[in-house]
Amino acid sequence: MRPFKIRDISIDPPLILSPMAGVTDYTFRRLIKRRGGVGLVVSEFISVEGLTRGNPKSKRQMRFDEEERPFAVQIFGARPDRMAMGAEMAQEVGADVLDVNCGCPAPKVVKNGGGSGLLREPKLLESILKEIKRTITIPLTLKLRTGYSESSINVVDVAKMAEQCGVEHIQVHGRTREQGYKGLANWDRIREVKEAVSIPVSGNGDVTTIKYGIDRWRETGVDGILIGRGAMQNPWIFRQFADVLAGREPYQPDIAEKKEVLLEFFSMCREEMPEIVSLGKMKQLAGQFTRGLVGGAQFRQTLYHSHSADEILDNISIYFETLEKRSTFGDGAVEADDDRDLVIESCDLSAAGTNYALAGSGVTAMAE
Ligand SMILES: Cc1cc2nc3c(=O)[nH]c(=O)nc-3n(C[C@H](O)[C@H](O)[C@H](O)COP(=O)(O)O)c2cc1C
Repeated sequence: MRPFKIRDISIDPPLILSPMAGVTDYTFRRLIKRRGGVGLVVSEFISVEGLTRGNPKSKRQMRFDEEERPFAVQIFGARPDRMAMGAEMAQEVGADVLDVNCGCPAPKVVKNGGGSGLLREPKLLESILKEIKRTITIPLTLKLRTGYSESSINVVDVAKMAEQCGVEHIQVHGRTREQGYKGLANWDRIREVKEAVSIPVSGNGDVTTIKYGIDRWRETGVDGILIGRGAMQNPWIFRQFADVLAGREPYQPDIAEKKEVLLEFFSMCREEMPEIVSLGKMKQLAGQFTRGLVGGAQFRQTLYHSHSADEILDNISIYFETLEKRSTFGDGAVEADDDRDLVIESCDLSAAGTNYALAGSGVTAMAE
């Protein structure tokens, strides 16, 4: 796997932090980018209806820092004129790349024709892409699922059409809309896309280990790989992947560094968000991050019952100090494998202005 280009933008290493609504915000992206190995970061998906009607939340979601470059803004919607306006706004704030979401399965998004709903309306998608191309000069990219359902797999045709419209990078999550996040991503379909178009194609789905990513790359020949949920469990996954690609031993953070990264995240959250929001974010990352660590399950229980940032910080300190001294915590249990599965499951979460709360082991949405 080698670096690839989206027009003149080098994606080096060819590893992309996959957009995740409610997760890959300004804070999380910088946290991951600073760990190294990330070639491109993408915003959460942003509603063009919100953007073009002056919704402050949508505008805030476009905020980024120079250290994040290259940076892509992802938009969703179903009206060509609104999509073009939203794209223009992303270009104006200085995004390097404009990405169109054609994969979100959330009913609220699909009902209005956006996200993976566009897979059922290739003509409408074509109009959207053409309208955006007429409006912006930065590269346009597309993130797709393989089809709306198993009986209507059309990712190859959609990718070919997108290439004709001037799209410069296709990213395929190897599941259908109907599948949601169930089962495994089908990388054969990703390979079919790679073989069908001349523009760069990146693959996505279930990469949580370097071996899994390298194997999928070998089978498909994709130009790049997107990692989403895996980055929450292991913020060093990109650096480790890049190490292996460069023939180095993968970097192994020690316990002290794991603690540091949580504290860095928490301090950024506290600076940037209201206490209640930052509490949710802290629980979210700490919850994912300690999956598979000794005593992680027990630690998460104490975390979920913490009611203030200070309480969370105290619990973190106790947990990591205990780990450092004794390599164990609580009863020392490491979760069973199924508890380590990728449990965060949806872009429903922020589809229509939702808050995030952590319940049990996954993330759930509560209506605002
Ligand atoms: C909580 C959550 C939010 C997501 N939000 C988005 C999004 O805003 N835009 C998008 O294109 N995909 C979104 N996705 C899909 C991911 O980008 C990715 O395609 C999917 O999780 C599979 O990759 P993974 O197995 O590496 O996580 C989201 C996924 C999750 C779990």
